[in-house]
Amino acid sequence: MFQANRCAAALFFAVLATAATARADDAPRALRSCVACHTFDKGGHSKIGPNLWGIAGAPAMHDDAYGKYGDDFRDAAASGLVWTDANLDAYIADPVNFLRDAVGRRSVRTYMITRVPRPNDRGAIVEYLKSLKD
Ligand code: HEC
Repeated sequence: MFQANRCAAALFFAVLATAATARADDAPRALRSCVACHTFDKGGHSKIGPNLWGIAGAPAMHDDAYGKYGDDFRDAAASGLVWTDANLDAYIADPVNFLRDAVGRRSVRTYMITRVPRPNDRGAIVEYLKSLKD
């Protein structure tokens, strides 16, 4: 029994290590705070948030298959929001505040609440997002 458990644990950690190595090759470390809600591969399914392939330079609400954009986010998109480098950087620095500014209201609702406080991390994420294109 003990042996079997140890074996399972070793296998589990081996799988984790492989997954981490594969991702570390092409994605920045800071992206780990995004993968719970987003996929990044072409045609990837949406999760809690939309798929982010091709997001850089695209208009907001770029994932047609994602039906769960919030009303406030829809308003921001309707006002012509485009994901320039500067907008991506400001959004992931503080998505709630960014959305407030975009719609001109203090009270907004969104599930995108992850802040990336360090400029270096944001820079690495934005560069990675820009690489997600054909
Ligand atoms: C808790 C879930 C969650 C996490 C964690 C999260 N997001 Fe989001 N994200 C969302 C949701 C939900 C939306 C849609 C926004 C809305 O409806 O308000 C979104 C939208 C976005 C958009 C705009 C997409 C579009 O189609 O216009 C970008 C860019 C984005 N997220 C990047 C990130 C990055 C980068 C991270 C990691 C630093 C991250 N998100 C972490 C849930 C999340």
